[in-house]
Amino acid sequence: MSANGPRVLILPEDDWAAAVAAELAARLVERPSLRVCLPTGGTPTPVYAALANAERAGRCSLGAATVVLLDEWVGLAPGDPARCDVRLRDELLERLEAPPAFVPIGVDAADLAAAVAEHDAAAVCLDLAVVGLGMNGHIGFNEPGSSPSGATRVVTLQPMTIAAATAQYGARSMPSGGVTVGFARLLAAQEVWLLVTGERKAAVLRRALTEPENAACPASLLRRHPRLTVFADEAAAGELRGN
Ligand code: PGA
Repeated sequence: MSANGPRVLILPEDDWAAAVAAELAARLVERPSLRVCLPTGGTPTPVYAALANAERAGRCSLGAATVVLLDEWVGLAPGDPARCDVRLRDELLERLEAPPAFVPIGVDAADLAAAVAEHDAAAVCLDLAVVGLGMNGHIGFNEPGSSPSGATRVVTLQPMTIAAATAQYGARSMPSGGVTVGFARLLAAQEVWLLVTGERKAAVLRRALTEPENAACPASLLRRHPRLTVFADEAAAGELRGN
């Protein structure tokens, strides 16, 4: 990529999760009180398994860190297996000997607007924002058309995003929407990591990194960040050759 562009790390599939987890562990060693926003989804699952192993082996601790959830479905019952808070607890937090402070999104609150405002405040001053990449270019639930100055907010989800709740993540009902940390907070983080794996993400990763920045592909807005690192496996990076 260009001299001032993102740092793009392309890793063999078999090494990808361990490499991301090792870099996260290194950040935690440097800064035990790390304030980090974390995503859920298929992409980070193996990273969390590797990070939990590293913690149990004594190579890092999250005990003094704070984990702020990136996004959450609206309309799924508490405990639904597709809920982002449930997934992050299952895949990471409950596997740790010393869990971090965890800030889920209060989508079950009677006053959703107040819960969203509270989460926006929690997403101020992030040391690190870790995000995945949607097939439509979304980041968190910042769907196509999102503004780079967008706040943490309730959003209408695209049909393909809603379909993924049941088809990919096993939701027991259809979500009615989502809440996401907005680009204003993500771009204000000290550092941003974009995690991308699999051949099916190759075209959208190429769009995000090589086409002119465009809200139609929200991931392209991350290129505004001066410290963006892309962790791609070789399959996801398959259309980046020559760029
Ligand atoms: P995935 O989802 O990690 O399950 O592919 C990413 C996303 O849609 O943001």
